[in-house]
Amino acid sequence: MNFFPYRNQELYVEQVPIKKIAKEVGTPTYIYSHGALTHHFEEYKKALKKIDHLICYSMKCNSNLSILRSFLNLGSGIDIVSQGELFRALKAGADPKKIVFSGVGKTDEEMAYALKKKILMFNVESEQELIALDRVARKMKRKAPVAIRVNPDIDPKTHPYITTGMKKSKFGIQYEDAFRVYGKAASLKGIKIIGIDCHIGSQLTDVSPFVDALRRVLQLIDRLNRMDISIQYLDLGGGLGIRYQKESPPSPQKYINTLLKELKGRNLTLVFEPGRSLMGNAGILVTQLLYTKNRDNKSFQIVDAAMNDLIRPAFYNSYHEILPVHKKPRAKQTVDVVGPICETGDFLATSRSLPRMEPGELLAVMSAGAYGFTMASHYNTRPKACEVLVKGKHFYVIRERETLADLLRGESIPKALKA
Ligand code: LLP
Repeated sequence: MNFFPYRNQELYVEQVPIKKIAKEVGTPTYIYSHGALTHHFEEYKKALKKIDHLICYSMKCNSNLSILRSFLNLGSGIDIVSQGELFRALKAGADPKKIVFSGVGKTDEEMAYALKKKILMFNVESEQELIALDRVARKMKRKAPVAIRVNPDIDPKTHPYITTGMKKSKFGIQYEDAFRVYGKAASLKGIKIIGIDCHIGSQLTDVSPFVDALRRVLQLIDRLNRMDISIQYLDLGGGLGIRYQKESPPSPQKYINTLLKELKGRNLTLVFEPGRSLMGNAGILVTQLLYTKNRDNKSFQIVDAAMNDLIRPAFYNSYHEILPVHKKPRAKQTVDVVGPICETGDFLATSRSLPRMEPGELLAVMSAGAYGFTMASHYNTRPKACEVLVKGKHFYVIRERETLADLLRGESIPKALKA
């Protein structure tokens, strides 16, 4: 299903022409398709319908309140990694009983807040964190529901910055230590063991590393059962990749079916934490061409979106397809699509074959619904972009473009500096 079709040479999001949105709210603007995110979520739901499960949307990839609400309406839970995310999720209307809390550096304050809100489960990533959580929970006369995040030491064969389940990575507890840490957890009065967790990386385009990780975790579950430590929730994290360019990741159906084969005969509640596979291809970044520069051996299209809006190309050298919003026959040229920021690394695409375009034309940076806006910054004192949600023939501004006054919020000049 294509939620970003061309009609009469004009690019649409569902039934709304992009140029109409840009005219009304300006650029740069993130535009999300409600139909696309729903379709992606339903694929997971369908694949899991015969078994006990909880899909916890990983909100770090896109945490706009309306996006959260869209997933909540579909029955989703939420995977959080900070107090801020929990605050946001609750504001969007999330049921705490469907929230799992991951992250290597949870503070006492964050733990206390999550305990107070009665979330489903803490994914504990170190022995020290376990001890801290026990202390915080006992102080509050609570028992913290816990899964230990195990690092199965599997190479997911993805970008090194988003590889998380190998020995050298900071995440989780070493496989060899996990059994002992579970023993420790069982002895702590403020801790209640309810699950086990692993997440090996992001943008995986092959199922086999997921299967390898699952097999290792299942061995651990069997060993724990023999010690009378029973596990109800098996959290397999997120990580399923999407197509940015030519990748061919398995569908959620295929990915889940392959995992389910390994799980036959087991009585577990499966938890998944997908982010990118739900939102990545449900959003785009629309930008306007400001200037072109043609040098002897290099051409540039200078646009009004920059690395502060979408950092993925600069940070991971990632590929995002770029489409002209108005498609017409014209010669192509090889260009770098760059932003206005004062950094050579400020590009959205390099050496890309694109039609020759005129200043004022719109471009769509595709596959930008995940890790786009949430990784945006104010670098070069640029206000953050506007966010729009399209549903059928309607569109809604779900975050206003920031104003210049927003950029100064909270700052002050002390008297001592006033001349
Ligand atoms: N669960 C945990 C514990 C995670 O750390 C992550 C992502 C997810 C779930 C969701 O993974 P997904 O389904 O989206 O692959 N900024 C990078 C991606 C960082 C991923 C961090 N963790 C990017 O733009 O590619």
